[in-house]
Amino acid sequence: MNAPPQIRLATGRDALRIAEMSRDFIELGLGWRWNRNRVLRCMHDPTYNVIGAYDGGRLVGFAIMEYRLHEAHIVLLAVETSRRRQGVGAALINWLETSALVAGIGVIYLEARAGNAGARMFYRSHGYLEVRVRPRRYAGREDGIFFGKDLWLTSRVTH
Ligand SMILES: CC(C)(COP(=O)(O)OP(=O)(O)OC[C@H]1O[C@@H](n2cnc3c(N)ncnc32)[C@H](O)[C@@H]1OP(=O)(O)O)[C@@H](O)C(=O)NCCC(=O)NCCS
Repeated sequence: MNAPPQIRLATGRDALRIAEMSRDFIELGLGWRWNRNRVLRCMHDPTYNVIGAYDGGRLVGFAIMEYRLHEAHIVLLAVETSRRRQGVGAALINWLETSALVAGIGVIYLEARAGNAGARMFYRSHGYLEVRVRPRRYAGREDGIFFGKDLWLTSRVTH
C-alpha cells in the first residue's frame, strides 16, 4: 500500500504533465483543449487553484478549481492510472472542499461526461448529487452530468 500523497499547489514545472493527464484521462476523444499554456494561465489566475498530488516529488494526480463569488467549480480532476482506488482522488477533493470553506464558499459544482461511470461513482461517493443533465454537451454527442454539493450541509464551521 502506498503512503498518502502530499497535496499542494502545483508549479509551472508540472503544467505539461497536468495538461497531458487532462488529454489522456479526461478529454479523450474530444480534442486537447487543456494544453500546457491554458494550465499555466490558471496557475497565474487568482480565481483558480491548480493543485497536485505528489508521491515524493512525483506528480500522480491533479485538480483545477475555479472560485466564484458564491460557489466553486471543479474544472478538472484526475489521478494516474496506477494510483487509482488508493485514496488520491479523495485527498484532492478533500483539499478543494476545505479550501472552498475557508474562502467562505459553501457550494461546489462540477460536470462529468455521462459515459464516465467511474467518475460519477467517485463524485457520488463524496456526496455530490447529480442535479442536471446537459444533453450533447461534449462534442455534440455525449451528455454532461452536472453535479453539486452543499458543503455547509455536511461541514461544521469552527471559530
Ligand atoms: C475518478 C478518479 C479521479 C478517482 O480517483 P481515485 O484516486 O481512484 O479515487 P479514490 O481512490 O479516492 O476513490 C474514492 C471512492 O470513489 C469511488 N470510486 C472511485 N473510482 C471509482 C470507479 N472507477 N468505480 C466505482 N467507484 C469508484 C469508490 O467509492 C472509492 O472508494 P473505494 O476505493 O474505497 O471503493 C480517477 O478514476 C480518474 O482519474 N479517472 C479519470 C479522470 C476522470 O474521470 N476525472 C473526473 C472527471 S473531471
